Amino acid sequence: MKYNKEFLEIVKDILDNDEVKKLKQYKHHYSYTRLEHCLSVSYYSYIICKFLHTDYISVARAGLLHDLFFYDCENKATRPKNHIKNHPSISLKNAKKIFVLNDKEQDIILNHMWPITTHPPKYIESFIVTFVDKYCALKEWSIYCAFKTQLCFLFLVLQYLNLYHLQYL
Ligand SMILES: [Fe+2]
Ligand SMILES: [Fe+2]
Repeated sequence: MKYNKEFLEIVKDILDNDEVKKLKQYKHHYSYTRLEHCLSVSYYSYIICKFLHTDYISVARAGLLHDLFFYDCENKATRPKNHIKNHPSISLKNAKKIFVLNDKEQDIILNHMWPITTHPPKYIESFIVTFVDKYCALKEWSIYCAFKTQLCFLFLVLQYLNLYHLQYL
């Protein structure tokens, strides 16, 4: 994806941070890395907030930090219990260790899983991130599912060709 210059300036210090760079190591929704997912959420939220004349800076920064946790969440054996509900507070804790966050940025990170988590967001920007996060997750999942469907189809075709071949031996 091509990001605009203003967006890259807003998030430059976050992207340059070594802890944030570690997100490249983790798969997220199977088809993307966690850093790619966070960048998508951050950028789409920034575009929407620019259009709506709301706080596009906080949304870009907090969107990029909303999934700042360092474990494999796709592996049920290794991920912490209640990952779905607890990872927003883990991400906020990690983000606060590295960056100074305003109240809105903290709310965006802490409540990005709403309505799965019960506490609703306080700001319009937080609501935007909750919806953009779900949109990106669905898109990333659908790419993975489409890939698996294609593999299944290919497998069935190979099986069929194999049977057909055996029939005429
Ligand atoms: Fe998340
Ligand atoms: Fe996310």
